[in-house]
Amino acid sequence: MLTAITRSVSPAIGRCELEYLERRPIDLARAEQQHREYERCLAELGAQVIALPAEPGLPDSVFVEDPALVLDEVAVITRMGAESRRAEAPSLAEALARFRPLRHLTAPATLEGGDVMRAGHTLFVGASARTNRAGIEQLSRELAPFGYSVVPVEVRGCLHLKSACTYLGNDTILAHRPWIDMAPVQHFHIVDVAPEEPWAGNTLTVGGTVLIPSAFPATAAKLEALGYRVRTLDISELMKAEAALTCSSLIFEE
Ligand code: GLY
Repeated sequence: MLTAITRSVSPAIGRCELEYLERRPIDLARAEQQHREYERCLAELGAQVIALPAEPGLPDSVFVEDPALVLDEVAVITRMGAESRRAEAPSLAEALARFRPLRHLTAPATLEGGDVMRAGHTLFVGASARTNRAGIEQLSRELAPFGYSVVPVEVRGCLHLKSACTYLGNDTILAHRPWIDMAPVQHFHIVDVAPEEPWAGNTLTVGGTVLIPSAFPATAAKLEALGYRVRTLDISELMKAEAALTCSSLIFEE
């Protein structure tokens, strides 16, 4: 069964990490409501949602994508580049241990799940402010026995690789090209985000539906015109925490 692990918004989200955005006040009640809508949407699209309780002392802990990576055979608990976020991993590891054997990345590796874009058995991994070469090499060594290849991609100007691009399936990537080195993905068909919406590259495809933030209507219309089934979600408060749609869930087959 399709399973989505989420975690409630931390009341401390206003103190979240930020790399490229100016800090703006986050309306906690609104962020919580948007996150509940997100969870409801995942359930409507067929996922069993396992919502972990909020971590009041961990501002970014709603973003469960970053401390772990779940593949069919194994889950990898990452070592996050943001030191303030490393305490998010143990409770997530505990939840994932029900579903997968675990592997752990260790120092000097740093890697965050937002930097990992999967296309079949290839994992494109952003070399970013949060993910270093040692992290990419360790991930590659851990996953080689399962038949995955790991391909580094230089990221510049945004938080994670998936802030700039996401895989839509069928050898197609939605991307904001200026933020990544396109060479490693040049063999894919590229759909460019609308020029006025540079942050629109992060979509989440669930059960054949492409979810995209309602802040990006031009890119949503472009995807619809290409024949994708598109649904928009308002995540405006979470976006102030430099988040996107993939950040708030880990989705896998049970
Ligand atoms: N606020 C999300 C992050 O920086 O990890």
